[in-house]
Amino acid sequence: MDIKNKNPIGLRTRYLMAIDLVCIVISIVLSFIIRIEALYDIWPYLKKYWTLFILAPLVRIPVYYLFHLYKRIWRYASTSELASIALSGVIGSAIIAIINFVLLPILNIPHCISGSVVTLEGILSTIFLGCSRFLLRLLQERIPPDEVPDSLFLTQNRRRILIIGAGNAGAMISRMMKSYPSVQESRIIGFIDDDPSKLSMHIHGVPVLGTRDAIPALVKKHHINEAIIAMPSADPDSIDDIYHICSTISLPVRTLPSIYDLLAGSMTFDQLRQLRTIDDMGYQISKPHEKRPIKLTSLMITGGAGFIGSNFVHFMLREHPDYRIVVFDKLTYAGNLDNLQGLKGKYGDRYVFVKGDICEYSKVADVIQHYKIDSIVNFAAESHVDRSLMNPESFLNTNIYGTYSLLRAARHFRVKRFHQVSTDEVYGQVTRGSFSEEDPLETRSPYSATKAGADLLVHAYRTSFGIPVTITRGSNNIGPYQYPEKVVPLFILNALEDQILPVYGDGLYVRDYQYVIDHCRGIDLVLHTGESGEIYNLGAGNEVAAIDLAKMILHYLKKPESLIQLVADRPGQDRRYSLNCMKIKTLGWTPKWTFEKGLEDTINWYLNNEWWWRKLKNAEYWKFYDTQYKERLSKK
Ligand code: NAD
Ligand code: DAU
Repeated sequence: MDIKNKNPIGLRTRYLMAIDLVCIVISIVLSFIIRIEALYDIWPYLKKYWTLFILAPLVRIPVYYLFHLYKRIWRYASTSELASIALSGVIGSAIIAIINFVLLPILNIPHCISGSVVTLEGILSTIFLGCSRFLLRLLQERIPPDEVPDSLFLTQNRRRILIIGAGNAGAMISRMMKSYPSVQESRIIGFIDDDPSKLSMHIHGVPVLGTRDAIPALVKKHHINEAIIAMPSADPDSIDDIYHICSTISLPVRTLPSIYDLLAGSMTFDQLRQLRTIDDMGYQISKPHEKRPIKLTSLMITGGAGFIGSNFVHFMLREHPDYRIVVFDKLTYAGNLDNLQGLKGKYGDRYVFVKGDICEYSKVADVIQHYKIDSIVNFAAESHVDRSLMNPESFLNTNIYGTYSLLRAARHFRVKRFHQVSTDEVYGQVTRGSFSEEDPLETRSPYSATKAGADLLVHAYRTSFGIPVTITRGSNNIGPYQYPEKVVPLFILNALEDQILPVYGDGLYVRDYQYVIDHCRGIDLVLHTGESGEIYNLGAGNEVAAIDLAKMILHYLKKPESLIQLVADRPGQDRRYSLNCMKIKTLGWTPKWTFEKGLEDTINWYLNNEWWWRKLKNAEYWKFYDTQYKERLSKK
């Protein structure tokens, strides 16, 4: 492995050159000793053939340099390094021979007349060169003196790892772990390999314990608590099989990126970073098991005429050309056929719209049957927190009873996947840190309570009836087609029309805003590759306070900050939401939109689509607006 070094003669290089110089001199002296077969007679020869002591280093060290022997990381030395050592030795010897036997005699300069001494010098120099480099590697690989004893690994529940694949990748991981004294928390207990010839062999001192069938027994026997699949070029079926074996015994598995991803250059930045972590830590997750996506054909998207639902419909029709998308939506004030405009013309029968209420089981069942629905993605909900404070009943109906009705249908028709679109609000507020999927649900508004209820129901259907379900808990979305009751479109449209931007309380309530297409990408990924029964947090980590959001929007639209007015707070408002999204990232999701780009795209969309939002500012809207803001705005 080469490393780029702007200073070619750095300290390390100088040390190595000094070692090589000593080795060359020793080689010459030894060559004479061997040739003459007497130690005491050596001095006259050395004096006579002194040119060899100048010539050999002058030739060899530049040759070694040209072969990058001063720029390699010897810790990772392999056969390619061995070949370079041998080749540089041979080429150096050839040049020395030509100069010694041809050039020096022509120039009448004293030279070594013994061919065997010159040959021996070449052989010994090359052997010493190889030994010095592999000695370096041995020193770097030495086991740290303060290594944790095996008994401690058992008592303290540290990582005891099984590497599946006793090939190059497995050996690499094992070697790296040994090279890094900092990896005290982990120990490789053994290798698994299906090649019987490798059984009971050792790699870097670690035994090959058995084939994949033996995994459950070995895990029990050796108290293994983690497996790493080190088979970068294995076919997906083998990986699936191993993954299945491990999941039946609840053994966490990690894997390296596939060799094809590496070669195709299709690895994401995130994965590369994780790969670097292997370099840095000697052991770490790279890319967890990339499951083969489940195959779907006919999807029912409930709430598909709303904000996120409609973006998802556009996204899925675009991304999955062989899918039929059936939108099932009640068309409440938040549902809008304009959001789906043009889809019939563009996609023909692949797109179907059905008006219906998810609470109405018979209608849901008819649609599933008629369109041979094999998966349901449930966006349908009453979604505005402020409205849930005014009229909680519709939230209970749609968000809980409606979800029940869909689950009932999913069970009856045995759909391949039921995906519930949930929210970060189910965790309640968090003042410090971030919520992960295992955290308890501590809802504080009627809206979030109904969403949490739905999540629990979904989970219960998985446990009780084996329905294959997944849940995503998303943070606040921004983007096209959002009804202007939510903060971002409300602030944009108010700013455009020089109206007050009502900021609740002290304005320091923090939300994590993500661009809606990133949310759709995450749902698509979980739908196809998420583990059944699992919950995935889904947020971009853009934590912004409402007051800052208002200022950014005004700044972008070149409107004065005097349009901001702090108004009476939303009762029981959550101070801050924050999600830990590691789990979905291990499936391969990362947001593509930065907050700034997402906000800019959103503002521009509203600027360019007045036809869409102007109609929404109707009597119904102003009725809601007055109820919500009139009194607040009148109190300065
Ligand atoms: P939205 O209010 O814009 O759209 C809701 C859609 O559901 C509308 O089209 C509406 O007509 C439809 N609907 C309502 N009741 C129905 C019923 N009984 N039967 C059929 N259709 C019905 O909502 P949104 O902001 O797009 O949110 C979609 C989903 O995502 C919701 O479940 C919400 O809880 C969740 N979520 C939203 C956000 C966000 O920032 N907006 C963030 C995380 C999760
Ligand atoms: O976190 C995900 C949730 O995000 C979703 O589950 C909900 O469906 C969605 O509506 C949204 O809920 P929020 O309550 O966070 O969004 P809203 O846009 O209503 O408010 C965002 C922040 O802005 C919040 O701190 C309250 C503040 N706000 C809101 C409005 C409407 C104001 O300061 N003034 C306002 O007028």
